[in-house]
Amino acid sequence: MTVLVTGFTGNAGYEVAQSLTSKNIPFKCAVRNVEKAVMRYGDKYEFVPLDFTDEATFAPALKDINQIFLMYPPGGELQFAAFLEQAKKMGVQHITYLSVKDVQFLPFIHHYKNEKLIKKLGIPYTFIRAGYFMQNLNDFLCEEIKERQRIYVPAGNGKTSFVDVRDLAEVVSLSFRNPQLHENKAYTVTGAEALDFSQVAEKMTGILGSPISYTNPSAKDFKQYMLSRGKDKGFINVVIGIHFPTKLGLAKGVTSDYQKVTGKQPHKIETYIHDYRSFWE
Ligand SMILES: NC(=O)c1ccc[n+]([C@@H]2O[C@H](COP(=O)([O-])OP(=O)(O)OC[C@H]3O[C@@H](n4cnc5c(N)ncnc54)[C@H](OP(=O)(O)O)[C@@H]3O)[C@@H](O)[C@H]2O)c1
Repeated sequence: MTVLVTGFTGNAGYEVAQSLTSKNIPFKCAVRNVEKAVMRYGDKYEFVPLDFTDEATFAPALKDINQIFLMYPPGGELQFAAFLEQAKKMGVQHITYLSVKDVQFLPFIHHYKNEKLIKKLGIPYTFIRAGYFMQNLNDFLCEEIKERQRIYVPAGNGKTSFVDVRDLAEVVSLSFRNPQLHENKAYTVTGAEALDFSQVAEKMTGILGSPISYTNPSAKDFKQYMLSRGKDKGFINVVIGIHFPTKLGLAKGVTSDYQKVTGKQPHKIETYIHDYRSFWE
């Protein structure tokens, strides 16, 4: 049984690979640029080329693959349906798809359509409907935290259900270890508590030992500032869109799916900040 890990160089894919390694589950890492991946990660992993915009890469990447950790990358022009059809044709037995919390109420987003597509093809699946990644703080929010000591995001005073990507990776790898148990299930994976960004800033201040604030910009100010910093307009709109439900108070639901599947407690944000502190120092 071999798993194909898509998005290996990203937040979730990398942690899924770590979790599969810890469980001795064989896997291959799908990357767009194998040469770059070898330079960055060495020969510890087996890399195969896969680009969702290039159908010619699909069949070779899926050769001898039984299960897929599937993520939907940002950007357009993806031949996602063709990839799924190829997976079905080549006998893939299980797909664990990284989706988003509350997807069932969001018919206009890719994840909604992708879940439907996977179901329609009849490939056994597990949907991981993830809350807001804690790792966003060391990813697209990192620059402002590090350079200007502020969490700069238009999320109002709403709370969001943070999840440590390491926890969702744990659920993903368990779905591969025992696919029958998790077949055709959707798990909403969140941490144990919802927090607003002022609370996160306070916790970061305490743990890092230097003041971090939450400046709560309006969407308009956020857009203007990010454009002035040379950020891509599409990216800015996505960030505004992601945080809009939080602003409206719609993102605060937490679940116990992580505890039910793993029998463990999810990481607290304090542990995450402590473990990732080198990103902001
Ligand atoms: N952030 C959140 O709070 C959150 C919450 C719930 C769900 N999600 C979902 O999680 C997903 C993002 O996961 P992530 O944060 O782990 O990703 P990420 O860190 O943004 O990394 C993106 C990955 O996609 C790969 N990629 C980009 N274009 C590709 C293409 N054309 N073909 C194949 N691979 C490609 C990148 O590889 P390269 O190295 O080649 O660029 C990289 O490995 C999205 O679907 C998002 O909706 C996010």
